[in-house]
Amino acid sequence: MNFLLERDAPFSKSIIWKLQRDYFEERGFDAWRSGEVPHYVTSNPRIAHAYAQMLVATYLDLVRSGFTNEQPLHIVELGGGSGRFAFYLLKQLEQLSKQHDIPPDSFKYILTDFTQANLDFWKVHPCLQTYIQDGRLDMAIYDTSDSSSIPLQIGGHEIQEGSLTLPIAVIANYLFDGIPHELYFFDRGESHRCHVKVNCEFDYLSGNSTAGEVLSGTYLRYRKEDSADESSGDAHVDALLSHYRNHLLNGYVLVPDLGFACIQRLQALSTSGILLLVSDKGHVTTEECFVSTPPSLARHGSFSLPVNFDAFRWYFESNGGSAFLPQPHHESIVTACYCSFDAPVATYHLANAYANHVGVCGPDDFFGVYTLLRDHPHLLELQHILSALRVSLFDCHQLNVFLPKLIELAPDFSQSEKKVVSQVLEQCWYNYFPLGENNDPISKMANLFYEIDEYPRAIHFFELSLSLYGKDQGTLYNLAACYFQSGSLEKSVKILQEILEAGYYPEADVLLKRCQAALMEQSTILI
Ligand SMILES: C[S@@+](CC[C@H](N)C(=O)[O-])C[C@H]1O[C@@H](n2cnc3c(N)ncnc32)[C@H](O)[C@@H]1O
Repeated sequence: MNFLLERDAPFSKSIIWKLQRDYFEERGFDAWRSGEVPHYVTSNPRIAHAYAQMLVATYLDLVRSGFTNEQPLHIVELGGGSGRFAFYLLKQLEQLSKQHDIPPDSFKYILTDFTQANLDFWKVHPCLQTYIQDGRLDMAIYDTSDSSSIPLQIGGHEIQEGSLTLPIAVIANYLFDGIPHELYFFDRGESHRCHVKVNCEFDYLSGNSTAGEVLSGTYLRYRKEDSADESSGDAHVDALLSHYRNHLLNGYVLVPDLGFACIQRLQALSTSGILLLVSDKGHVTTEECFVSTPPSLARHGSFSLPVNFDAFRWYFESNGGSAFLPQPHHESIVTACYCSFDAPVATYHLANAYANHVGVCGPDDFFGVYTLLRDHPHLLELQHILSALRVSLFDCHQLNVFLPKLIELAPDFSQSEKKVVSQVLEQCWYNYFPLGENNDPISKMANLFYEIDEYPRAIHFFELSLSLYGKDQGTLYNLAACYFQSGSLEKSVKILQEILEAGYYPEADVLLKRCQAALMEQSTILI
């Protein structure tokens, strides 16, 4: 079946954007828990480290340029999604602030999204409690379409126009690729706005399909307006279109008109400017942004489009600001830094931080190497995995990927290797931000602790796994084996009996007999 969803609408007004919003509202936290919306590339300790470096650098530049820090530097994350990135960034900021002797309350992090369900999840997440309680973290609903203030749900006050005296720092990861854009077709110095017709395999109007299902079955057909554009109604967009027309390039180009409007609204909250850090997939140079066919939607639960990083560069530079962009040929994401400060600020530290942590080798390179290792575990020896985990800054997600290989290698570890592995496990655990995903590292970590003879830690992790994921016979058996190895025979017997009462489990039967024999031997010695 094929249903007509929309006959003809300007691209930025299409029904697809409403479906996108409905998708995030509908799925809430499950979008991340299920892995439907990819987020590892923008939510790992390494990318957070690069951002922390740029934020600390900005802080140092502002102090050097005479800004007084009566207020903290406010960092507003838009479309915060799972909250994992915020957790990593807060940790990295804490460490870097110590290294630079910056007081910990110099930064205030505001985690935002447009769905209350996400905020409700973050508010009670155990990993975020310390930051909430000491006031370093607050949360707010912020809708990039129209919010003009930030009402803080924990602090209770509202950040309004002119509230902030330091520049506002804004983070937008995987956000601009999924909010409305305008689409133009350029031909011989003329620009034409594009419209879409949307068909769908699902009957949206019947109300029997979810937004996710409808999105997965949509087909777009594009139409260019016959007459060339005169005015879009937005001065910034008009100036960009005129700039592009002067380039005499031909093809389709996405224009982030809503992105521009959102930056203006956020910038108005501060009396001294804005720093914008963005990671997304997209195009960096003007030439790359012009494509010969209309964009197709990349689908992953929600959908996304390539971000026009060049348009943001143009926006900032034409308003007296600066842009830091990577060399072309990035594979998965582009990390860009834009700033516009109202007073002269020497961006010496920021430029260095960008060059060192993004320009030379950045989040995209890190992700590229990670995927290579992830896809070839058979080539890895212990030292490769340890190096990968150190480079990842002890990322629990990566550990999870390498755990089966580590468990396989464990019987051959030397004593000193066991010690190093144990330390690395603890460091990764420190970075663990649970989302309740199915493929959780906890029981695998417990197995590895068992293999390296760290029975108390193994017991702790098996018990954690049982309390979080419910009773599993295999996990119970492993727990009993740990108790047996650490000499807690009665505890082992109790668990093994529980397993056998539930059904046939030959290994449990064998271990129970060994436990009973050992207990008998102990009582004979005592007599
Ligand atoms: C693709 S996810 C990215 C999440 C996270 N930043 C990351 O990198 O994994 C997009 C996020 O933006 C949020 N979002 C979508 N439209 C929005 C809007 N108009 N205003 C604010 N947030 C929005 C969604 O709820 C979702 O959390």
